Amino acid sequence: TDYSITVDPSTRGPAIGKSMYGVFFEDINRAADGGLYAELVQNRSFEYSADDNASYTPLTAWTVSGGAQVVNDSGRLNDRNRDYLSLGAGSSVTNSGYDTGIAVRDGETYDFSVWARADAGTTLTVTLRDSGGTLATARRIAVTKSGWARYRAAFTASRTSATGRLTVASGAAAALDMVSLFPRDTYKHEPNGLRKDLAEKIAALHPGFVRFPGGCLVNTGSMQDYSAASGWQRKRAYQWKDTIGPVETRATNANFWGYNQSYGLGYYEYFRLAEDTGAMPLPVVPALVTGCGQNKAVDDPALLQRHIQDTLDLIEFANGTATSKWGRVRAGMGHPRPFDLTHIEVGNEENLPNEFFARFTRFRAAIQAKYPYMRVISNAGPDASGTTFDTAWKLNKDAEVDLVDEHYYKSPQWFLQNNDRYDSYDRSGPKVFVGEYASQGNAFKNGLAEAAYMTGLERNADVVELASYAPLFAAEDSVQWRPDLVWFNNHASWGSANYEVQKLFMNNTGDRVVPSTATGTPSAQGPLSGAVGLSTWATSAAYDDVTVTGADGATLLSDDFSGDASRWTHTGGGSWTVQDGQYVQTDTAAENTMVQAGAPSWHDYDLHVKAAKKSGK
Ligand code: AHR
Repeated sequence: TDYSITVDPSTRGPAIGKSMYGVFFEDINRAADGGLYAELVQNRSFEYSADDNASYTPLTAWTVSGGAQVVNDSGRLNDRNRDYLSLGAGSSVTNSGYDTGIAVRDGETYDFSVWARADAGTTLTVTLRDSGGTLATARRIAVTKSGWARYRAAFTASRTSATGRLTVASGAAAALDMVSLFPRDTYKHEPNGLRKDLAEKIAALHPGFVRFPGGCLVNTGSMQDYSAASGWQRKRAYQWKDTIGPVETRATNANFWGYNQSYGLGYYEYFRLAEDTGAMPLPVVPALVTGCGQNKAVDDPALLQRHIQDTLDLIEFANGTATSKWGRVRAGMGHPRPFDLTHIEVGNEENLPNEFFARFTRFRAAIQAKYPYMRVISNAGPDASGTTFDTAWKLNKDAEVDLVDEHYYKSPQWFLQNNDRYDSYDRSGPKVFVGEYASQGNAFKNGLAEAAYMTGLERNADVVELASYAPLFAAEDSVQWRPDLVWFNNHASWGSANYEVQKLFMNNTGDRVVPSTATGTPSAQGPLSGAVGLSTWATSAAYDDVTVTGADGATLLSDDFSGDASRWTHTGGGSWTVQDGQYVQTDTAAENTMVQAGAPSWHDYDLHVKAAKKSGK
């Protein structure tokens, strides 16, 4: 069919902000440790614990030869880094890194460091090897100082390998902590820096903003801190003050996504990332309510006040002069100039709208009293519509909130059908921040649906101010969520079709919409897939009565699971059985997909499925 598009350059549509398209970085799918954070040693401070993940021990990723144990006593490196390794005389420990091992490239330099204490002195021998032999000349380090001290050595790789192992051996008994190996060639050559190929993938987008650090991540565990008053909390809310200063004093924490987070990639590094990629920083702080399936409101006025004060301190850390209390901390970390923070988000995807809002307004009042220029972002809960969404929007409107964060993960059809979503939004109400969205897949059709949808965001740039795809990164061996924008393993990374779409829009953002009209009718629809699939991340779920209805209402495929399920094929790690006329999934937290071939074209049907969550997300 012929289309005709009419554009009148003399008409002026809404202005498009320079920051409209950005990225959302969350430490999910091992996006930070083992990902963007360039540290090559896993569990470098022996802090992994069953609180992070039931399978963890303090020696996860380490193997011991001889005698060694992890100790938590008054001889520790400091109060925030509680475990250390007590290594026997003539013994050694070997770290296996992330994924298949420590990845090194021929000719590149790697900086090793370790905190060590040896009362009688000792010599450490540090080697980098894989099963094929040595990867760099071994280094010998004399531990001579009394008490804990940091020792360093550099390696130059003589071969490329993705399966390296780092071994530290000691002649005499020694205590070790913060065993670290970094590529010298980090992004922008920053110390404690970022893995270059991954940071460059962000930079190539020329993002308008970087939203960080989460996501559900900011809601980990209780809202308590680790202070003496509350006792040591291994599972606590994400608190920015935990993540700054010398890395050996950053207390590690359980990550909402089921692993340990070292906080080596912390708030200072996030601000640097934003600055280095020319983006506006956009942090998210916890609001003392937890959405993300936990649905809990913490009722503790003193704790709330402390979190509000922490948020004010964060703004001072970012923007204060080098003589202010927190500005001095920033300057001490190497950045005397402010980071020019203008936006801050309080809470993430909260699905207790009234409880959230009571807390949000307290944060907002305190922030705006001290920093009237700050734009304080609220949210509309976990979906694009529904009761929570409507209640949240009403509260946000009534309180004249500046910007409201909407999140949605939907089918490509949804994105095509909702291109006009924002055409009818109230122009006098709060602006919209689409802080997380993705069509459910990394295939070409998903990127295409997102691209079509983004034209709708852009057309409504007078109400949609900011938008970011989510999640940004996934390590292919540790996937809690898919689809994702950029994928990686320990030595390579690649963008998805969705990444190319984001890149196209971010690198070609206009400054104003020119209204246009199109006429024409498509002559055919699809087929682009010819299969129907259900993907689930549930740990246990049951499905029944799957029907696929064509645009004309005719049933194209149906299954009530009264017979066997041999028409369906499965991918993923779980198992599926037919039980009591239902299709039942068991024993996995990984994504599972059931697919039945023979469905019609992908964009002209409705899928109906009766699903029962038995447990899990
Ligand atoms: O992007 C993945 C998750 O999706 C985020 O952590 C959360 O905000 C949303 O549920």
